This record gives sequence, structure tokens and C-alpha cells, in this order.
Amino acid sequence: MIYEPRELGEADIEDLIELERACFNYHWTREQFLLGLNRKAFKILGIKTAAGLVGYMAFSLIEDEMEILNLGVRSDYRRHGLAARLLQKSFDICVESGIRKSFLDVKASNEPALALYRKFGYKQIGVRKKYYPDTKEDALLFRHDFPKDS
Ligand SMILES: CC(C)(COP(=O)(O)OP(=O)(O)OC[C@H]1O[C@@H](n2cnc3c(N)ncnc32)[C@H](O)[C@@H]1OP(=O)(O)O)[C@@H](O)C(=O)NCCC(=O)NCCS
Repeated sequence: MIYEPRELGEADIEDLIELERACFNYHWTREQFLLGLNRKAFKILGIKTAAGLVGYMAFSLIEDEMEILNLGVRSDYRRHGLAARLLQKSFDICVESGIRKSFLDVKASNEPALALYRKFGYKQIGVRKKYYPDTKEDALLFRHDFPKDS
């Protein structure tokens, strides 16, 4: 089965909310999705199957920087390369758009996400103590630089 990411929009918000609730304790509201999409503050890529929306990634592109805002895959679809596909597609968009660097923050205990981001070349650049409102856990800050000739 080929899981092809595509860009999502306003029509997908209900599916996004459902998936977001399944993946995170602290999630975006309908208004946050709407505002961000309408103002073009971020892009959202998603993967749909016959079972509906099973993975998504939200990221912002500002000047030459990309920031990963959210990335989640439905639990029964994990470990099938969906997050990797979403990340790779966002990297392709970055290269096309002349983006030079990417940032993200991730919970210090989130081993699957840490392994994923390290695999894609992200390096830790800092820590924000007790950053997350839901668990008061530390955030690890990561950065990736796109190769100059990409
Ligand atoms: C993190 C998450 C998005 C990974 O999604 P996924 O589709 O299962 O990831 P993939 O199958 O594409 O895995 C790609 C790579 O990530 C790493 N990885 C993913 N899940 C992992 C796990 N449970 N343990 C260790 N490494 C893992 C591996 O390096 C993997 O490559 P490999 O399969 O060749 O070993 C998923 O676990 C998730 O939705 N978690 C809950 C939400 C969340 O924490 N999001 C991140 C917020 S920053």
C-alpha cells in the first residue's frame, strides 16, 4: 500500500480534530486550525486511506525557516513509515521553497518522535524546562539544516 501525503485544507478540519484527539492530550481547536489555514500561517499534509485520515503534519514556513508544529499518526497505523513520508514530503516542499533550516520541540520522554527526528538529521540545540502545559515536561529543541546544494 502506498501512503501518499497531500495538502489538507478547511474541508478536512473535522477529520484533523478527530485524529488530533486520538494522538495528543493537548490539542488544537477547530478555531486554531481555521485561523492558521485561513491566514496561511501553516501548511498541513495528511495521509488518507479507506479508513479515513490516519496521519498528518502541520508546519510553518517563515522566510527561510520551517517549524514543525504537530505530527501524528493513528496508533494502528504506526511503524509503517507514514510519519517518515510526511516528513520527507515537507522536506521536498522546503527544498522547492528555498527553506534553509528547520526547528521543532519535542517532549523529552517521546522516544518514537526523538528517533524519527534524529533519523531525519535533526540535532538537539537546547532545552526548555517544564515547557508543556499538560505534563510540565521539558521540551527538547531540535534543528536541521538543509544542505546548501539541495
Ligand atoms: C512519533 C510518530 C509520529 C511516529 O509515526 P510513525 O508513522 O509510527 O513513524 P514511522 O513508521 O514513519 O517511523 C520512522 C522512523 O521513526 C522512528 N520511530 C518511529 N516510531 C518509533 C518507535 N516506537 N520506537 C523507536 N523508533 C521509532 C524509527 O527511526 C523509524 O524508522 P524505522 O522504522 O526504519 O526504524 C507516532 O508515534 C505518533 O503519532 N506518536 C504520537 C504523537 C506524537 O508524539 N507526535 C510527535 C510530536 S513531536
